[in-house]
Amino acid sequence: MLDSASENEDFQDARCESDQSPPGYDSTTLRRAFGRFATGVTIVTTQTEAGPLAMTANSFSSVSLDPPLVIWAVGRHSRRFDAFARGRFQAIHVLADDQLDLCWRFSRTGTDFSGLDLRNNAEGAPLLPSALARFECEIVNRVNGGDHLVLLGRIMRLTVAEGEPLVFAAGRYGRLAAAGP
Ligand SMILES: Cc1cc2nc3c(=O)[nH]c(=O)nc-3n(C[C@H](O)[C@H](O)[C@H](O)COP(=O)(O)O)c2cc1C
Repeated sequence: MLDSASENEDFQDARCESDQSPPGYDSTTLRRAFGRFATGVTIVTTQTEAGPLAMTANSFSSVSLDPPLVIWAVGRHSRRFDAFARGRFQAIHVLADDQLDLCWRFSRTGTDFSGLDLRNNAEGAPLLPSALARFECEIVNRVNGGDHLVLLGRIMRLTVAEGEPLVFAAGRYGRLAAAGP
């Protein structure tokens, strides 16, 4: 466990030993395969010295009920990497199927909160006004994930609303449709 990012700069190192051996597939195939796994879409927020920051992320996953833990991964290529790698308190907002505009907005920019009634939680993490679910987290561990950094968050508070999730798969957005009888 890390008390703060500054106590361990290991996450600065993008290299893994496995990077050295050539894979038996190309990166396009790997992307296509990853895209076959449908996900929801989240907006992750954190507070910085320059103000609130947000990012669209689909790498979110639930991990543990007890203790309550989630993960998401921030890309090292992103200009927002440092802020999220260091941000101790982060809020993860699960988008509903009518929130595609937020998905696009916070993919493009991390600082445009115009028209949104933003609040800060007790720890200073910015909270968006609506989401299907919201996890207010403290980042308790960071793991090198190659070209991403995996952040493990302990859920401090959560909210859940009624609605349907925004779904993302193979570069497309959609809604859930019943598959069974
Ligand atoms: C649906 C979707 C999911 C995304 N998921 C992630 C993610 O899990 N992690 C990540 O670092 N970037 C993710 N991105 C990209 C970021 O939202 C953002 O576009 C990227 O970090 C570029 O940021 P920059 O312009 O500040 O460099 C996702 C984008 C979209 C549209």
